[in-house]
Amino acid sequence: MLDVKLFQMHTFLPLPYEDALAPRLKRAHEKLQTGSGAGGAFTGWVHLPRDYDREEFARIQAAAARIRSDSKALVVIGIGGSYLGARGVIDCLCSPNYNLKRKDGPNIYFVGNGLSADALQEVLDLVEDVDFSVNVISKSGTTTEPAVAFRFFREALVARYGKEGARSRIYATTDRHKGALKSLADEEGWETFVVPDDVGGRYSVLTAVGLLPIAVAGVDIQALMDGAAGMMERCQDASFDCPAWRYAAIRYELYRSGRSVELLACYDPAFRFMLEWWKQLFGESEGKDDKGLFPASVEFTADLHSMGQYIQEGKRLMFETVVRLGASAHQLSVPVDEADGDGLNFLAGKTMDFIRDRAMEGTLLAHTEGGVPNIIVDAGGKTPADLGALIYFFEYACGLSGYLLDVNPFDQPGVEAYKKNMFALLGKPGYEDRKAQLEAKLSK
Ligand code: PA5
Repeated sequence: MLDVKLFQMHTFLPLPYEDALAPRLKRAHEKLQTGSGAGGAFTGWVHLPRDYDREEFARIQAAAARIRSDSKALVVIGIGGSYLGARGVIDCLCSPNYNLKRKDGPNIYFVGNGLSADALQEVLDLVEDVDFSVNVISKSGTTTEPAVAFRFFREALVARYGKEGARSRIYATTDRHKGALKSLADEEGWETFVVPDDVGGRYSVLTAVGLLPIAVAGVDIQALMDGAAGMMERCQDASFDCPAWRYAAIRYELYRSGRSVELLACYDPAFRFMLEWWKQLFGESEGKDDKGLFPASVEFTADLHSMGQYIQEGKRLMFETVVRLGASAHQLSVPVDEADGDGLNFLAGKTMDFIRDRAMEGTLLAHTEGGVPNIIVDAGGKTPADLGALIYFFEYACGLSGYLLDVNPFDQPGVEAYKKNMFALLGKPGYEDRKAQLEAKLSK
């Protein structure tokens, strides 16, 4: 069962803070539960694991089964909250090498998460000779990166299967009523799935946004939802017994004591895109009004050989949150070598998990002695249910954290600045004045 603690708590947070913080956490909790805080119209994810649309869930499973039977590749088009969750879960539960390892079901390619022509062309080439389907995901239906990528893959589908044939291979996940993608889907007759109005992009992995690609990868999405529902129940408890409450409280106190960076760490490379998902979740939710911890990530032990130096002895900016996923599926033991030329026989017969865990403990001690507090999130395991619980835990802690900081954890006004400049520079109608101003600035 998921648990959270701050290692050597009293070294880093010497004064009791729980009683002082409890009323504020309780208010934050009530805001999340009732949708009465800033951005409350976007708290649909809070009860989603209990209230999700069962009919749509069954359609997701049916669509996934269809894609698995009629396609050798699924192209998933989306960016930000419409991308990272699905990728994180598939990498973590299947493998970062999913496409190389899978025994059945299609390859899954993620596009539309950037503006690289080479990345796009690569996937167009990869699907050239195989049957493929497309899941285009955009809540707004107007985001440039996925919309542009979709044009290419729609064209490729129509060229391959004709307009009629392409129709049954396009799955659009978007707003229930509005947006360019929704209008197109209605006109063209594509199957659609809904991003609920009250769930923002970065909190949407447990909606069709994440669930359809995850189900296509063969993951048990019912178990994922059940794990999230279990954590939702635990988060009803408005007390320090709730792990999300503890995590939000500890990171807030570390922030107040001067830490400005939170490094999320994991010892499993399969967790890489969950780290990316977490960075978006916390970065977009907290980073506003001149406030917020900067969310960064490290993959251990690889990054101990790069970032480890800074963490140990650089500017004391950060604390670490280490996600522990428990025992590996494979218990590999180090082989004996009679010659012992590499001097490693002291490890012969030891499992890789044993070695990893000693590295983890050694790092924990070294980094805390170097003045870096370490929060430990023990996820309990790496099953779909464990990951569902972990996802909900982070989402709930993020909502609480936003309200502790007195910011709206559900908007992202800062994301618009680059978009307006990009539209102006691209000559989008309506941006003429801005285009002239920006071009003048660029030419200086
Ligand atoms: O969290 C968010 O709201 C953003 O990251 C969005 O998910 C991202 O910008 C993509 O938006 P959309 O789904 O509307 O294309």
